[in-house]
Amino acid sequence: MERKVKKYMFISLVLAFLVIGFTLFMTLFKLNKVAKNQEQVPLKSEQLILGFSQIGSESAWRTRNTTSIFEAAAENNIQILFDDAQQKQENQLKAIRSFIVYQVDVIAFVPIVETGWDNVLQEAKDAGIPVIIVDRQIAADPSLYAGFLGEDGFKEGKAAGEFLLNKIKNFHEKKWNVLELSGTANSSVVISRAEGFRSVIAQNPNISIIHSEDGDFLRSRGKEIMDRILKENKGLSYNNKPIDIIYSHNDSMTLGLLDSFAENNIDSKKTIIISIDAEQKSIDALIEGKLNCVVECNPNLGPTLMTLVKAIAEGKSIPRITYMQETVFTENDDFSTYEPRGY
Ligand code: AHR
Repeated sequence: MERKVKKYMFISLVLAFLVIGFTLFMTLFKLNKVAKNQEQVPLKSEQLILGFSQIGSESAWRTRNTTSIFEAAAENNIQILFDDAQQKQENQLKAIRSFIVYQVDVIAFVPIVETGWDNVLQEAKDAGIPVIIVDRQIAADPSLYAGFLGEDGFKEGKAAGEFLLNKIKNFHEKKWNVLELSGTANSSVVISRAEGFRSVIAQNPNISIIHSEDGDFLRSRGKEIMDRILKENKGLSYNNKPIDIIYSHNDSMTLGLLDSFAENNIDSKKTIIISIDAEQKSIDALIEGKLNCVVECNPNLGPTLMTLVKAIAEGKSIPRITYMQETVFTENDDFSTYEPRGY
């Protein structure tokens, strides 16, 4: 009997060793397999996150600008945290603060106006998040942001003025009255486009800006302003002075004033009209002879923005200012060479 018990104990011990040994072997085998798999599957590269605050969708230009940024982000595998500020600076400030809380890799924003950004930029700097200023410039300490990407508003205004000087160069005696339709008050583009234009027309003392009005870059406002001027002055004049030239800071407002002209039977061909942006509808109007000059403002800054975002993320510094390439379309061009604008 005692021998039998000993035999069972011996068999149980052997079985226990076998089970433990097998379990150990399988565990090691699995661990080894996992380790090998980890070596074979490349680690998923971390996707960069860009917090982007856009000012709204006031114009076809702006819509194209937003699309360009989204398209380029997708092409570069960059994730966008997007906020549409609905034309309010306070919304932009909230959006930028939420990007900081989210700890995005880079922040980009289109500043609706020039001032009021210092505090939020300091907060981003303290959080170690670099900021790129897009499209419009700001009046703030440059050490608070990485760089600016967008248009040269002064150059655009100058181009508008140069076209005008050239257009009227042979009329030595005539006095010329300008109506200026400007965009969102206190935005850098409005300030610089106004300065650039004035810096050039100052060369001709016969040119006077008789009225300047804020049309907020909107088609509806362009029409509203022109409807009111035509009504109050019983025609295309202002305070008893004929309007010979219209300098409009964007195409949306220009198209709005053309709507008003059409409704009020005013022949646009009798007025020199200069616009900025170069969206397809205004290029069409140029070809039809309704406009005389359209200065391009390039909205397609998405690809360059992504290059800058990636450079910053790699710890490289970016240029303080990157201007977009822009051209000028005039009534003197060979229209057959024009490419579709795409917006
Ligand atoms: O900041 C660029 C300007 O803003 C464009 O000229 C205008 O169309 C837009 O709304």
